[in-house]
Amino acid sequence: MNHLAEHLAQGFSQTPKTLSSKYFYDATGSRLFQQIMGLPEYYPTRTELAIFQAQGAAIGRALAAGAGAGQPLAVVELGAGDGLKTKLLLRELQNQPVALSYVPVDISPSALDELAATLRHELPTLPTEPLAAEYGAALTTLATRPGAKAVLFLGSNIGNFTPAEQVVFLRELAQPLTAADRLLVGFDLRKDPRRIRAAYDDAQGVTAAFNFNLLHRLNAEVGADFQLDAWQHFPDYNPSTGAMRSWLVSRRAQTVRVAALAGQTFEIAAWEAIQTESSYKFTLLQIAELSAGAGLRVVEVFQDEAGDFADVVLAVAG
Ligand code: AVI
Repeated sequence: MNHLAEHLAQGFSQTPKTLSSKYFYDATGSRLFQQIMGLPEYYPTRTELAIFQAQGAAIGRALAAGAGAGQPLAVVELGAGDGLKTKLLLRELQNQPVALSYVPVDISPSALDELAATLRHELPTLPTEPLAAEYGAALTTLATRPGAKAVLFLGSNIGNFTPAEQVVFLRELAQPLTAADRLLVGFDLRKDPRRIRAAYDDAQGVTAAFNFNLLHRLNAEVGADFQLDAWQHFPDYNPSTGAMRSWLVSRRAQTVRVAALAGQTFEIAAWEAIQTESSYKFTLLQIAELSAGAGLRVVEVFQDEAGDFADVVLAVAG
C-alpha cells in the first residue's frame, strides 16, 4: 500500500479525522506555498527575511562561533524550500573564516532542483549537496557527517509540530550535535490573533487552494473520490494556546471511496471537519522552556522590531 493511502486510512480512523500537512508539498503544493510566502497577509516570511537583512552579520558570527578558523562548517537546512532567506545568511557566512558548505534538505525534489539551479548561478563557489528527504534522513546525515554544523530550521516550521512533537524533534536534532555546532530555529511569535488568523485565510484564497491540494492529491494518487465542491477551508486560532489550525470542513454528508484501499469507503457527516495543519505560535518563555527540555541552551535571540518573529541560535546545553 502506498504511504499516502496508509496515512489516509490511519488519519481517518481518528476523531477528529486528520491528514498531515507534510502531504501539502507535492510540486503544486510547493508552488502554492511559494505564493503564500509573498501574500500581504502572510507576514512570517518577510519578517524573517527582514531579521536576516538587518542582523545577518551577527547571526552569521553566532553560527560560525563554534567552528575553528579554517575548519569545515556545513550549513544543514531542514525544509529548505526556495532558500531565499538562507542565501542571505550564506553570503554572511562566506565572510567567516570557515570552509563553508551547504546541505539543503527538502521533501520536495522539484523545490530542491530549483534551489540548486539558482545557487549555481548566485553562489557558484559554494559547495552544495542537496538532499531530497524527510527530516529523519537529515538526522542521519547530521550524525555521520564530520566537522562543525550549523543546522537551520527556519520559517517557523517547528510550529507545524504539536508541542509534544516539538520537544521530541528538537531533542533528536540536538542529540548528534557537539559543542562546536549551532542550531538556528525560526519561531513565529504570539501577536494580534486577528493578524495570525488572516495569515492563514488570505483574501486571494491561495491558502485555501493549498489546503484543497491535499484532496486533489488524494484523488489523483490513491484514487479517492473527494468531491471538491463539497469542502471548505476553515482556519481557527486559539490565542490562549497559540494553536493556529487549518481544517477542511465537509459542507454535506458524503461517502468517499478510495481505490488504493481496495475500495474502502469513509463516511463523512455534514459539517464534519478534518484537521490538516497546526501552525503553533510561541512566547519567548515557551521557546526557552522548549529548548531546555530538548537539552539545548539559548545562545542568542534575534527579533524584528515589532517582536513578530524570533530567530534563535541554540547550542547543546552543559
Ligand atoms: C511551512 N509552514 C511553516 C507554514 C505555516 O505557516 O505553518 C505552512 C503554511 N500553511 C498555511 N500557510 C502557510
